[in-house]
Amino acid sequence: MLDVTIDRDTKLFGILGYPLGHSFSPPMQNAAFAATGVNAAFFLLEVKPEDLDVALAGMKILPFGGASVTIPNKVAIIEHLDEISEAARLIGAVNVIKFEDGKVKGYNTDGSGFFRAFQTELGEEPKGKTFFVNGAGGASRAICVEAVLRGAKKLYIYNRTLSRAEVIAGDINGKIRDCAAVVAQKPEAMAEALAEAEVFINTTSVGMYPKVEELSFDVSLLRGEMIVCDAVYNPERTQLLWKAAELGCRTMSGVRMLINQGAEAYAIWTEREPPTEIMSDVICRILKQ
Ligand code: ATR
Repeated sequence: MLDVTIDRDTKLFGILGYPLGHSFSPPMQNAAFAATGVNAAFFLLEVKPEDLDVALAGMKILPFGGASVTIPNKVAIIEHLDEISEAARLIGAVNVIKFEDGKVKGYNTDGSGFFRAFQTELGEEPKGKTFFVNGAGGASRAICVEAVLRGAKKLYIYNRTLSRAEVIAGDINGKIRDCAAVVAQKPEAMAEALAEAEVFINTTSVGMYPKVEELSFDVSLLRGEMIVCDAVYNPERTQLLWKAAELGCRTMSGVRMLINQGAEAYAIWTEREPPTEIMSDVICRILKQ
């Protein structure tokens, strides 16, 4: 249990979701605040979408600095914001808010957290690269939008349900910048796309505990010079990452994405460099339990 001193100057933070089961955010953010001497405390805030207006009005007059936003509030909160970041607007979902100058501002750190990890773990930038993104849910959308905003050259989006991949591609093509988002669906199209892509990102839940042996495609299509990333964080090293490493690929676990999403939120709230290693220790300890 962390020792947080609360006084009249303590800034309040929390996670707005309903229902809230286990969440990594309170232990991770409280450890980060304590380690960096930020007088702040992070709580679980169970709020239903229909109560967001009342909750936000209350938070505005209380000493709240910001909040994380999770299911089912990520889209519902948008109508209550005064400002929204370009990435969050394009993604269509907000997972971090900040109270500033009497206003509520919304952000999305799902994609920016991924690319913070991509930079710090692998020393790589998305600019000019061709990506193959497997999956077309919320995580895929956030990573695709952020990749394009950061200068990606081309995205191949593959999904079991074609229409969801087409919606993301349609929302990107010609609307953000001149980056081609292509839907790769048929098996032969997938092989061609994988022969061209430099980065493979799995955003599906395939490989997640307890079905840890599952793979959603023929992994031998990956090439040793590719970077292979998995959004799945349990287990830390998925079957996909093991196989990719055997082929000689550099890999990145979903655990790094999870930690860096929290690090991005900390950076937005405090405008300081996040203590990523401390946040990582907390997450790794929880995941081992
Ligand atoms: P998130 O918001 O975390 O991205 P999501 O919106 O539920 O989660 O999306 C999950 C993704 O995993 C989707 O792309 C889903 O494919 P469908 O759109 O076809 O449902 C994908 N997915 C889940 N289980 C899968 C499986 N067994 N094989 C292939 N794809 C799977």
